[in-house]
Amino acid sequence: MTGSRDKLAKAVIIRPAEDRDIKPMQAIFNHEVEHTLSSWRWAPLNDEEWQGWFEEHTTDPYALLTAEVDGQVAGFAGYSSFRSPAGYDTTVENSVYLSEDFRGMGLGRRLLKELMSVARDKDIHAMIAAITVTNERSIRLHQGLGFVEVGRLPQVGAKFDRWLDLTLLEVLLNHNPQP
Ligand SMILES: CC(C)(COP(=O)(O)OP(=O)(O)OC[C@H]1O[C@@H](n2cnc3c(N)ncnc32)[C@H](O)[C@@H]1OP(=O)(O)O)[C@@H](O)C(=O)NCCC(=O)NCCS
Repeated sequence: MTGSRDKLAKAVIIRPAEDRDIKPMQAIFNHEVEHTLSSWRWAPLNDEEWQGWFEEHTTDPYALLTAEVDGQVAGFAGYSSFRSPAGYDTTVENSVYLSEDFRGMGLGRRLLKELMSVARDKDIHAMIAAITVTNERSIRLHQGLGFVEVGRLPQVGAKFDRWLDLTLLEVLLNHNPQP
């Protein structure tokens, strides 16, 4: 594992998402929608819906990062609103998605770590990850970067004819005593 991480690290560029990433990101995300429980959407996002998702995530103070390996979009990590009332403005919810070929090499960790740093610089206080309980790899990824489980919501979703449990993980990005 360590060897493969080092090997990948040499060629990886983590950078803010650009318009040229829209299509490859959409393909990575929609593959998950259609085949896995990592997203609870039932139907792929069409071009217009994905454009909206992209624009929301690239509008300050939100952020979207691309992991580029040898000119290819290997994955992305971003955050946007957790809940809409103004009282939640200092809290965000994140997303991390890698293309299948680039998993298990520490890339998710690099993306999420950088995303947390970007959020910290923008004075975001809390970051939430809402993860399917069976997605042990994502839970482990987040715990490894300081997220702690703050709650489990049994059977709050359904997909592929089964109930889904959600786990909420949270990290505080700074220690401001007051907002
Ligand atoms: C989840 C995802 C972002 C993780 O990124 P990654 O680069 O593949 O992460 P890694 O394989 O390096 O694993 C991250 C951690 O999980 C651990 N892990 C890997 N497979 C695991 C498994 N089956 N069960 C438990 N832990 C596992 C790794 O050892 C590592 O732990 P460490 O940081 O303590 O060493 C990536 O796999 C992905 O895009 N998956 C599909 C989409 C998805 O599930 N997105 C998250 C939605 S909430």
